[in-house]
Amino acid sequence: MNISIIGTGYVGLVSGTCLAEFGMNVTCIDNNSEKIKNLNDGIIPIYEPGLESLVKKNINEERIKFVTNLSDGIKNSEAIFIAVGTPSRIKDGHADLSFVFKAAEEIANCLNGYTVIVNKSTVPVGTGKKVFDIIKKKNKSVEFDVASNPEFLREGSAINDFMRPDRVVIGCESLRAKKILSEVYRPLYLLETPILFTKRETAELIKYAANSFLATKITFINEIADLCEKVGANVSDVSIGIGLDGRIGKKFLHPGPGYGGSCFPKDTLALVKTAHDYNSQLGLVEHVVRSNDLRKKNNINLIKKASVNKLNGKKITILGLTFKPNTDDMRDSPSLILIPKLLDEGCSISAYDPEGLESAKKVFDDKRISWFDETYSAMVDSDILVILTEWNQFRALDFKKVKRLLKTPTLVDFRNIYNPKEMKEIGFNYFSIGRPEELFL
Ligand code: UDX
Repeated sequence: MNISIIGTGYVGLVSGTCLAEFGMNVTCIDNNSEKIKNLNDGIIPIYEPGLESLVKKNINEERIKFVTNLSDGIKNSEAIFIAVGTPSRIKDGHADLSFVFKAAEEIANCLNGYTVIVNKSTVPVGTGKKVFDIIKKKNKSVEFDVASNPEFLREGSAINDFMRPDRVVIGCESLRAKKILSEVYRPLYLLETPILFTKRETAELIKYAANSFLATKITFINEIADLCEKVGANVSDVSIGIGLDGRIGKKFLHPGPGYGGSCFPKDTLALVKTAHDYNSQLGLVEHVVRSNDLRKKNNINLIKKASVNKLNGKKITILGLTFKPNTDDMRDSPSLILIPKLLDEGCSISAYDPEGLESAKKVFDDKRISWFDETYSAMVDSDILVILTEWNQFRALDFKKVKRLLKTPTLVDFRNIYNPKEMKEIGFNYFSIGRPEELFL
């Protein structure tokens, strides 16, 4: 089966490569010629575990190729996936659909037989209908359908999430489209993966509802963690205690410095905007957006507490700059707010991230930040050590060595990696989230 994917960003590249791995003939299309050249040479523009080898394997087995010309790229394709970016519009938080509509216009000019056009990009409810109308207006003769097939990929585990998803959601308007998309996902069907066929608008809303619910769950446990600080409870045990309830589930109940990434912040905002547009209440998600933004602004308070309110002139080591481990992605990372605030307080920063250094250097241009390429050298002579992203490299630190390197044995652990009692026993001033010190006296 011939498949085309427009957009070779995070979603398009992973989806195209995995569909090729399923045995499809995949053509990935992007107007960035340098990116396309690199991809054909097996050079991958993003860090995603396992992606490079999978791309190279499918290039060698001639199931995937990368082109810039859309007309050639979609020729003879039975399904064309639109996987272009839909960033938040700065002025109003709506999803910017200009790249989606541009792709639709270009597709309209090149269609030459029945094709299913599939929105894989995260798009507001009703976008599929708009894409249909754009194409129909430009190309009245050809038969086609527009479907919605949102992705649920997590950065850092995207290949596994595509190859072994909890479910596939497909919104389509005809049996003909359903038949083609059933064929595309047949390998997963054979794995008994639940495939939900529904209306296009329903599939579009499922994506936003899923991400907004996950963001809500994280915000809930973050606010419970703050309450734990006040009432002397242990948020880790609260997470376990509620997560054992099958109706709640234990995942996404880890308190932290606030969620980041290219999806939760963007999708929660876009869903709130959609609700406003349709004059429908979504106060819960509105609160989640505000609460998470506020949390990122207040993270500095825990470091202030650790410095006994004397931040000026202090040297702070930050381990972890990306929004989560196993990615080089800095988008909406808590570090983007915390580091400038620390600099404003007169701190100097030593920073290390296993994969995000290059991305971070592009964002921060401040000579008060020193960049390091390994964990311990970033700690030398620092007053406070901060763990912001829970990379595996930070989960078993040699604290004897850490103590020697730091000016004072002070650790602020935004991911609750370590045990407060054990840290106290080895002489650290240890600060974490939702696990007040008196619990471990
Ligand atoms: C998310 C959704 O999980 C995925 O289904 C969707 O397709 C894209 O958006 P992603 O943003 O890559 O994936 O990462 P995810 O693992 O969901 O984490 C998002 C943010 O939430 C990160 O900043 C992470 O640190 C934070 N998080 C996650 C928590 O703070 N606590 C948790 O328990 C889980």
